Amino acid sequence: MAKLIEDFTVVDINLYSDTLFSLVLKCPVPLPTINPGQFAQVLVPNSNSVFLRRPFSIFYINYDNNTISFLIKEKGKGTTELKNLKPNQIINVIFPLGNSFSEPKGDNVLLVGGGVGIAPMLMLAKKLHEQNRNVDVLYGAVNSSEIVEKYFLSKYSKLHVCTDDGSEGFKGFVTENPILKQNIDKYDSIYVCGPDIMMKKVAKIALDKNIHCQVSLENTMACGFGACLCCVAETVNGNKNTCTDGPVFDASILTNFNK
Ligand SMILES: Cc1cc2nc3c(=O)[nH]c(=O)nc-3n(C[C@H](O)[C@H](O)[C@H](O)COP(=O)(O)OP(=O)(O)OC[C@H]3O[C@@H](n4cnc5c(N)ncnc54)[C@H](O)[C@@H]3O)c2cc1C
Ligand code: FES
Repeated sequence: MAKLIEDFTVVDINLYSDTLFSLVLKCPVPLPTINPGQFAQVLVPNSNSVFLRRPFSIFYINYDNNTISFLIKEKGKGTTELKNLKPNQIINVIFPLGNSFSEPKGDNVLLVGGGVGIAPMLMLAKKLHEQNRNVDVLYGAVNSSEIVEKYFLSKYSKLHVCTDDGSEGFKGFVTENPILKQNIDKYDSIYVCGPDIMMKKVAKIALDKNIHCQVSLENTMACGFGACLCCVAETVNGNKNTCTDGPVFDASILTNFNK
């Protein structure tokens, strides 16, 4: 799939909490087909201190409005500058990058998103729903203010919320939720994105039960297209670039996930 480099226009910045926001951008050319799991490399505009592009999963696409959205957690300088953008500003984006989630092995599918790890799951839930699969989403966040887009997630899936502080849904980490503790056998495939420790724990639960599991890695990236080798993931088939061979991998081939 051809990669585009385009000057998008900022349409909106929706603040969900002090540090969590979505960035809605309008593309100057018709958007190509983008598959769930793919990401973009975003250049922070007019910054004197942030030179490298920042990678973000494509959160939502509106082909009617020709817009894409990112769900972003403020972490450092780059994401702070993005949070402070204003409508009509111009922002350069390379997309669509990376592979995407592959088809599930069966019709009963569980998507697990931790924090902004929910970002690639919204489009995946929509696609699987359109394929008439039974989709459950297990969504964990620190508190209720960081649980976002419940309306859309519920439209495409049966949504199960967990919060660390119990302010919404099940109190505790996703890995402690009965869905993973007791009801795991009903799923044919599990897709995971979130903090590394969460992905490893969920993958172990799935692999121990021989359930097909795909994870979307968020390794630190610089170039985003296979040139700098800073995003390597160790697999049973040798080292792979997370930006070009991933970010989505079968958990069973990731060496660090098999220990
Ligand atoms: C494929 C992919 C998809 C991602 N999708 C999302 C998303 O949808 N929403 C979201 O909020 N974040 C996402 N991230 C993480 C996001 O890229 C980083 O949080 C962001 O680059 C931090 O930039 P910063 O300048 O604010 O932070 P910095 O000041 O540069 O660093 C703060 C922290 O962010 C982490 N970080 C920095 N640069 C990267 C990087 N290039 N890749 C990964 N982690 C980094 C570091 O661990 C560091 O501790 C994704 C990362 C990857 C690789
Ligand atoms: S980010 Fe440069 S090779 Fe992956």
